Amino acid sequence: MFRSLLTQRLQTAFDKAGITVPDEFTPAVVLASDTRYGDYQSNAPMVLAKQMRTNPRALAQQIVDALEVTDLCEKTSIDGPGFLNFTLSPAALANHLLKSVTDDHLGVPPAPNPRTIVIDFSAPNIAKPPHVGHIRSTFIGDSLARIARFVGHKVITDNHIGDWGTQFGMILHGWKTLLNTTALDANPIAELLRLYKTINAQTKADPAVLDTCRHELVKLQQGDPENKEIWTRCVALSLDQLRTIYAKLDTHFDHYLGESAYNDKLAPLVDDLLAQGIAEISDGAVCIFFRDLEALADKPCIIRKTDGGFLYATTDLATIDHRINVWKADEIWYVVGAPQELHFRQLFEATRKRGQNAKLVHIAFGSILGQDGKMFRTRTGESVGLIEVLDEATERAATVVAEREGFTEDEKAAIAEIIGVGSIKYAELSQNRLTDYKFSWDKMLSLQGNTAPYLINAYVRTRAIFRKLDGNFTVPTEVSFTDPAERALALKLAQFAEATHDVLEDHRPNTLANYLYELANAYHSFYEACPVLRSEGTMRETRLLLCQATSQVLRSGLNLLGIQTTERM
Ligand code: ARG
Repeated sequence: MFRSLLTQRLQTAFDKAGITVPDEFTPAVVLASDTRYGDYQSNAPMVLAKQMRTNPRALAQQIVDALEVTDLCEKTSIDGPGFLNFTLSPAALANHLLKSVTDDHLGVPPAPNPRTIVIDFSAPNIAKPPHVGHIRSTFIGDSLARIARFVGHKVITDNHIGDWGTQFGMILHGWKTLLNTTALDANPIAELLRLYKTINAQTKADPAVLDTCRHELVKLQQGDPENKEIWTRCVALSLDQLRTIYAKLDTHFDHYLGESAYNDKLAPLVDDLLAQGIAEISDGAVCIFFRDLEALADKPCIIRKTDGGFLYATTDLATIDHRINVWKADEIWYVVGAPQELHFRQLFEATRKRGQNAKLVHIAFGSILGQDGKMFRTRTGESVGLIEVLDEATERAATVVAEREGFTEDEKAAIAEIIGVGSIKYAELSQNRLTDYKFSWDKMLSLQGNTAPYLINAYVRTRAIFRKLDGNFTVPTEVSFTDPAERALALKLAQFAEATHDVLEDHRPNTLANYLYELANAYHSFYEACPVLRSEGTMRETRLLLCQATSQVLRSGLNLLGIQTTERM
C-alpha cells in the first residue's frame, strides 16, 4: 500500500539524513487534499520542525535530499509552509495494478499485528420487542467482522442473545394463560411478542399479575421443570426464526452464547470479586465502585441486587472471562447502541480493576429516523422488525426489476433480493455510525447517487464488457496509461488497501462505502472517456485490465460490507 510504503521511506530518510525523531513518532502520510500537488502528502517536516525549533522548509529539503522513492514517485515537491507532496509514477501504478489482479487479497496487505478479536453484535432479546438498534448492530458488526478477517485477524463472532431477562416472567405467565399455538407455529417471534405485550399491559392495570410473573420467573431461575421446558422452547423457536433471518442477510456467527450460557458462573464470580476486594457490599447489594474516576464516582456497577438477583453487567463480566480465558481474545468489540455507553464504561473499568488487559471497545451508533425525523417505523407496525424491513426491501426492489427484459421470474426474484437487502445494508453502512440518519426507501433504492443499486450496477457494467469479449481475459505484460481517466482509476484502485485498513482504525465501515462510491465514479468517468473494446493493442489491454481490477474491487469491497453482487441486472 502506497501510504505505508511512503511512510517507511520517510523513516529511512530521517535516519539517512541524521534527523533524530522522537521515539513514538511516525510521519503521517495521507491522501492529498489537493490533487493538483500530488497523490499523497505529509506534514511531517512541519511537525518535526516545531519540535526541533528549526525551519520547516529547510528540514523538508533535508528529508527530500535523503529520500529514495524513484521506484514509486515521478515527483516529490515541497509546498506551502513545508508540506511534502508525492506524485506516484505511472510505472508504480501499473505494477500495483498488475500484481493486485492476480492476488487473492487484491493488493491489500495483511495487518502487521494480527490479533484475536471477538465481535459481539446483533444480540436481540428473545420475546422482547426488537429495536432498530439490532438492525444497525447486525450490519455494522458483520461488516467489521468481514473486514477484520480479510486483513488477517482471527475473528470470533458471538451473538450474545438476550435469552434470560425478567421478560420471561411475563412470557411464562402469558404462555400458560393466553398462548395461541397456531399463531406460534406461524410466527413464533410475533406470538411471543404478543404474549409479552399483553401481559405487560395487564401488569400495569393489576399489580397482582406482576406478582404472578415474578413468581413464574423465580420458579424458572430455581429450575422448575415445566417453566424450564417452556423457556427452552421459546428460545429454540426464536433462534430458528433468527437463523432464517441471518441466512437471508448472509450473516454468520461462530457462537450463539446468550446470556443464559453464563447462569452458573454468576454466583461464584460475585463471591470471587468480593473476596478480592474488587466488589463490596453496599446497602445489601454487591457493587463495584469507581471512586477514583470523576465521571463514574457516583455510578457504581451493581452486580448482585439486594434480593440476590444478578444483572446484565454480571453476565457481561462472566462473558468477558470466557472470551479472554477460553478464546484468548486480545480485543473484544461491542457493537451496541449509544444509550448503553455507561454500561460499557463501567464494564471496561471493572475489567481493568480485575487486571484483565484485553482491549475492549464499545462501537456505538445513533438512531435510524423516519422521514418525519422521528423514530423509524414500518408501513404496518409500530416498532420495526427486521423481517418486515427485509421483506419490504425485497418487494420494493422487485418492482424496480419487474420491467427488465431477458430474465426469468426466478432470476428476477434473486436479483430483487440482492438489491433489496443490499440497499438497506448500504444505507446503513454508508453513514457515519454515530449520526442519526433518515431511512428513505426511495433514496436507498435509487440507481443514482451513493447507493447499493448504483454500485451493483457499476459492477454489472464491468461484467458486461467481459461477456462481450471474445475469449478469456488474460493479464497483459505491458501497461500504459494514455488518458488521465485511466491514471485516476488506477490510483483509486490502489487505494482499496488504505480504505480497508482505515475502517478498522475507528471501526467505521462508511470509510469503505465512500471509497467504493468514489471508485464507481472514477470508473464511470473512465468509461465515458475511454472506449475499451473498440481500442487496440496495449491501450486495449490496459483498459481491460482496469475493468477487471474495478470489477474485482467492487465485488470484494461490497462483499466486505456484506452486500452481494449480481452479474446482470
Ligand atoms: N441484548 C442487548 C440489548 O438488546 C444487547 C447485548 C449486547 N452485548 C453485550 N455483551 N452486552 O440491548
